[in-house]
Amino acid sequence: MAELKYISGFGNECASEDPRCPGSLPEGQNNPQVCPYNLYAEQLSGSAFTCPRSTNKRSWLYRILPSASHKPFESIDQGHVTHNWDEIDPDPNQLRWIPFEIPKASQKKVDFVSGLHTLCGAGDIRSNNGLAVHIFLCNSSMENKCFYNSDGDFLIVPQKGKLLIYTEFGKIYVQPNEICVIQRGMRFSVDVFEETRGYILEIYGVHFELPDLGPIGANGLANPRDFLIPVAWYEDRQVSGGYTVINKYQGKLFAAKQAISPFNVVAWHGNYTPYKYNLENFMVINSVAFDHADPSIFTVLTAKSLRPGVAIADFVIFPPRWGVADKTFRPPYYHRNCMSEFMGLIRGYYEAKQGGFLPGGGSLHSAMTPHGPDADCFEKASTAKLAPERIADSTMAFMFESSLSLAVTKWGLKTSCCLDENYYKCWDTLKSHFTPNSRNPAGHN
Ligand SMILES: [Fe+2]
Repeated sequence: MAELKYISGFGNECASEDPRCPGSLPEGQNNPQVCPYNLYAEQLSGSAFTCPRSTNKRSWLYRILPSASHKPFESIDQGHVTHNWDEIDPDPNQLRWIPFEIPKASQKKVDFVSGLHTLCGAGDIRSNNGLAVHIFLCNSSMENKCFYNSDGDFLIVPQKGKLLIYTEFGKIYVQPNEICVIQRGMRFSVDVFEETRGYILEIYGVHFELPDLGPIGANGLANPRDFLIPVAWYEDRQVSGGYTVINKYQGKLFAAKQAISPFNVVAWHGNYTPYKYNLENFMVINSVAFDHADPSIFTVLTAKSLRPGVAIADFVIFPPRWGVADKTFRPPYYHRNCMSEFMGLIRGYYEAKQGGFLPGGGSLHSAMTPHGPDADCFEKASTAKLAPERIADSTMAFMFESSLSLAVTKWGLKTSCCLDENYYKCWDTLKSHFTPNSRNPAGHN
């Protein structure tokens, strides 16, 4: 898919026309009496009309038929999608999952939408405050079927298999180690090419932003120019039997039929678009003297709450980097956090746990649940010679970190059959090294 073109930037005002219809964007106005090529004009609002300019998001779409042209929505099977955070009792334990199993195509065809499984979440969809973590497990492309989410934005993290995502704004090709954000209301359809797995962070009521950089300065972490926005592409395709539009609305799934493909947008302009980002482009900041900076230095995107500095959810990565801190226990420190930490692994090995935390699996350390390196990691790191060393080469772990206290679904705790009942044992063999009569028997500081 190297031939796909993108526009570079984060949150830009962009304009794009399918090259087959030059001049398809109206000049000097949004809503002419008759649009070029006799298209319909339709606005997609991603923020309240009255939001300040810094957070105001909308795009104008020029399309063959407006989105309103469809048969009524009807409720469909919910599969494993839920927003019921009370279906199972809370569990404050450290939780870890072995890789979530992908259904075999030879046994059952499962596409991106029917393969959505809600793992955990919190908050309230109706009041636009909260989040959900979903796992997608699929083996087939969506056929004459698209999806849109009335409840929030999807940050999609493919872990196994590539995704070709058709959107109303154009086509996006996403492979593992890249992420894609499809914002609220945007219709999209996913083609896959093999048994495919990944993670989704859904946020309600707000959109992802780049974190402020403070003393870091004007550059660093995820740079705006590395975010890629698709260019306009349309198909004028009638579908006999109807094209199915699936909608997640107030946490429930609905389907409606319409006559033609929804990817009938010939031109668009605005600042409310889907986008993708390659995690390799993240400019890593780290300690170069001693001790740790907190993992917030690895934040790619943040979804802010109304409380200053407190996120509904942060998307954080642990990329390949140098570890050079002197006189320091270099692995992640032992930690209890008022935030909830869901972690996943795209590829490789996570430094604090060499076994058990595997690509395609996950872990959840809930609010104030203690966690940290396992016994083996502690012993090795406490005696290691502190030369500069590469950390996490060929590895990409990530974290969805939330200020909300997350409830785990029944699928997550039971139905998936992926919960690792022995996770707690990785700290079981930690032993006391306390030497009450000697401050420094090994000669360290
Ligand atoms: Fe932590």
